Amino acid sequence: MKVNGIPYRTIWLSSDNRAVEIIDQRKLPHEFVVVRLQTLAEACTAIREMWVRGAPLIGATAAYGMALAMHGDASDAGLENAYARLYETRPTAVNLRWALDDLKQLLTPLAADQRRDAAYRRAQEIADEDVAICSHIGDYGKQLIEAAWVLKGKPSLVDGGVNVLTHCNAGWLATVDWGTALAPIYKAHDAGIPVHVWVDETRPRNQGASLTAWELAQHGVPNTVIVDNAGGHLMQHGMVDLCIVGTDRTAASGDVCNKIGTYLKALAAHDNNVPFYVGLPSPTIDWTIDDGVRDIPIEQRDPEEVTVMSGRAADGTVTDVSIVPDGAKAANYAFDVTPRKYITGLITERGVSIASRASLSALFPEKA
Ligand code: MRU
Repeated sequence: MKVNGIPYRTIWLSSDNRAVEIIDQRKLPHEFVVVRLQTLAEACTAIREMWVRGAPLIGATAAYGMALAMHGDASDAGLENAYARLYETRPTAVNLRWALDDLKQLLTPLAADQRRDAAYRRAQEIADEDVAICSHIGDYGKQLIEAAWVLKGKPSLVDGGVNVLTHCNAGWLATVDWGTALAPIYKAHDAGIPVHVWVDETRPRNQGASLTAWELAQHGVPNTVIVDNAGGHLMQHGMVDLCIVGTDRTAASGDVCNKIGTYLKALAAHDNNVPFYVGLPSPTIDWTIDDGVRDIPIEQRDPEEVTVMSGRAADGTVTDVSIVPDGAKAANYAFDVTPRKYITGLITERGVSIASRASLSALFPEKA
């Protein structure tokens, strides 16, 4: 997608082929900064501290992280060490494990001096595959947006258009390009469908307010940021035609784990007969888990993300401010699980599936 008219992906090999470059997402929306990652340690830091984030991008960065590690120590011990260090960076997004397993399986039988080049090649393939997957999700999801618009009598934007609510950032910044939840929106917008997006701010890190609102605006998609608690009210008043969110791990049964607060949006959608869809790339399916609520590990992050907020002051400086009484206790659960019964459909790269093991298995028989 484009930033100030220039096409970007979220991760790419540097021109000297010795490093990987990323967009430092901690700085958005106030600054657009590209950072060079040269070592395994830097790749781990970038994932753990969320310079990059979003399940598919975490997977792609982990794959490149393995390649960076092979510059330093391409022995069997080096391979094991790189796997272990990248694996522990973030627990919930299953794309991390998926990418690391893929690289390990590829590299283990190779001689040490062949591993680095093979790792770069595979990391590049994983990145390219993610772009293709997300583009297909966009094509299938666009049809759902179009159908909702047709059902309303094709109103123009002035007459309300078609309104999609999304949570967190599941746009191109969360993937290599296109996004999962936002790909259908970009494709609908590009096809001339008058789509407007309600953007949940997504406390505590505000990925909606900081990232989704920014990338939608870069593409010219009309959007409005709302506080996380507003969605239910909007749905009660017919102001949301469908919800589309992303996912960090979807159980084979169809239970969806995504950014904290997704579950409450699904409950409100269910109560108001608003369709609730999930953009789901197949590497985000965890075929080993059936009961998502019980078995998906939920990341708990630093409570300071809850107690301190960052923003731009009137003089242009970006500042941190405390929003709680001194010494207040905070808990920071980063994800929740939406049971499959609240999900209208899973938009995969092979089509829209109902949220069930049978339906997902029929779409991906080779993986199930
Ligand atoms: O903590 P984050 O910002 O990595 O969480 C991201 C999300 O929850 C996204 O919705 C999810 O990864 C889907 S990405 C296309």
